[in-house]
Amino acid sequence: MPEIAYVNGQFLPLDRAVIHVEDRGFQFADSVYEVIRTYGGRPFAMDEHLARLFRSLEAIELKPAFTADAMKAIVVEGIQRAGFAESVAYLQVTRGRASRHRGFPADTNPTVVLTVRELVGPATGAEEAGISVITLPDNRWGRCDIKSVALLPNVLAYAAARKAGAHDAIFVEADGSVTEATAGNVFIFTAGTLRTPPKGPKILPGVTREKILQAARESGIACREEAITKAELLDAEEIFISSTTNETLPVVSVDGKRIGSAKPGEVTKQVREAFLRAFVRKK
Ligand SMILES: Cc1ncc(COP(=O)(O)O)c(C=O)c1O
Repeated sequence: MPEIAYVNGQFLPLDRAVIHVEDRGFQFADSVYEVIRTYGGRPFAMDEHLARLFRSLEAIELKPAFTADAMKAIVVEGIQRAGFAESVAYLQVTRGRASRHRGFPADTNPTVVLTVRELVGPATGAEEAGISVITLPDNRWGRCDIKSVALLPNVLAYAAARKAGAHDAIFVEADGSVTEATAGNVFIFTAGTLRTPPKGPKILPGVTREKILQAARESGIACREEAITKAELLDAEEIFISSTTNETLPVVSVDGKRIGSAKPGEVTKQVREAFLRAFVRKK
């Protein structure tokens, strides 16, 4: 059964999966999510994704009626039922259905949704050629560490980037510090060091970000988690964006300015290799 969904206890074909119009995820974005991919058909870094899901749930004061192990079993079953060579599982938990009022409902019955689709990597050629990005003011809320479904600023920033002829956008705070891309963490390589903005409320603590730092450090690349200014971004020798589905996506142009030789950099390639060697190929 391809393209499968799970809604509140039941597996069904994706195009038959529905939730109620008064679901708080739909009405208030009162909801958090995770995206988990497979390598060799097996879910990758599931424990890390579920730990982040439970942190997000705690941060929005949503007590789940399930354990991480129960969630894990649902994701594994969904992936098995879908049967793709490689899958991407989207897991979303909302504060459930209640008549529309901003107050938390007295009896919360969370909605749990899973969809499983075939994994689609970066657009053809993006990995080999690199992508162009524009910078945009970070107009998101102050808790970007919560993986909330309230992604309208990300949607609009991505649309603005496409309209400007770029592939994506990188957010920059009013003080000039780089936060992250619309769906990924930002890394730059400058003066012998790989740098990425530190964890905190301004960015999502990416599972891939963490794995990349570990793999890069283990392979002898100096890494620092510290603030990056827009000026440093524009002057970087190399830039890449990390995420579950794109792994490492090289950036070769920012606001129309060429980065390095306008080709994916050598360190970016080394880091990608180190990541794949450490976490993917050994499996
Ligand atoms: C805003 C944002 N930052 C970072 C990431 C990267 O997170 P991960 O590596 O866990 O996929 C994502 C993933 O979609 C994201 O949406």
